[in-house]
Amino acid sequence: MRKNILAANWKMNTSASEGLALFNEVKSGWNADPGGNLICIIAPPSTHLSLINADSEKGIYCAGQNCSDQDNGAYTGEISAVMLKSVGADFVIIGHSERRSIFGEKNNLLKRKVDAAIRNGLFPIYCCGEQQGEREDGNQEDVVRGQLQEGLFHLSAEDFGKVIVAYEPVWAIGTGMTATPEQAQEMHSFIRTVIEENYNKEIAMDTSVLYGGSCNPANANDLFANEDVDGGLIGGASLIAGDFLQIAKSLSSSIP
Ligand code: PGA
Repeated sequence: MRKNILAANWKMNTSASEGLALFNEVKSGWNADPGGNLICIIAPPSTHLSLINADSEKGIYCAGQNCSDQDNGAYTGEISAVMLKSVGADFVIIGHSERRSIFGEKNNLLKRKVDAAIRNGLFPIYCCGEQQGEREDGNQEDVVRGQLQEGLFHLSAEDFGKVIVAYEPVWAIGTGMTATPEQAQEMHSFIRTVIEENYNKEIAMDTSVLYGGSCNPANANDLFANEDVDGGLIGGASLIAGDFLQIAKSLSSSIP
């Protein structure tokens, strides 16, 4: 179901005590949305998940940053969706560009990770987005279409309804180079069109599509004002509680 979502991707940052303090600061500053239309998802390092307490009444949930495509077994160093679920995660980020580029994760593996998440009751936050050269060549739509097609569109309509899509142009992640509001709207609307082509309009309109890539308190208002931008996946700015909460205000004030 389409919701306004502000998600924090802490990446490989914070010690356990720093993470707990950051989480508690965000939690105490987060204003619950009475209508339940605005939710907060925090993806700390997985080592912190059992220390922090999500609060669904306040609309605050936890996520893993990645999961294995396997549920258990001899896969040294891997963390499964079963394990994430067992320590309180309800969501998991899959296919973040750092997983794709640094760890070589390809769409066919990501597809199996999406399946593992859904099989174990986690909602996938599936990331897509083009690299700088791909945008320069005008290939952003083909790239994103391929990522969605190969990683998600095998799902039944019912299971696709559990997926959140995050559009994160790789050239904007951690670079300070945000997509313009027009570029974000164009791609989000394109993503909805592709979903409609593969499922139907109702499902396309019911999918939450988040923007990620150097989103901060200064640009959040303009990004979230777009009709097809349902929220953000925030990296750097999510490590400062005040900035993250400020971005949340932009999102809640953009809800009609
Ligand atoms: P950034 O990261 O906000 O630091 O650009 C976003 C992300 O990687 O999800």
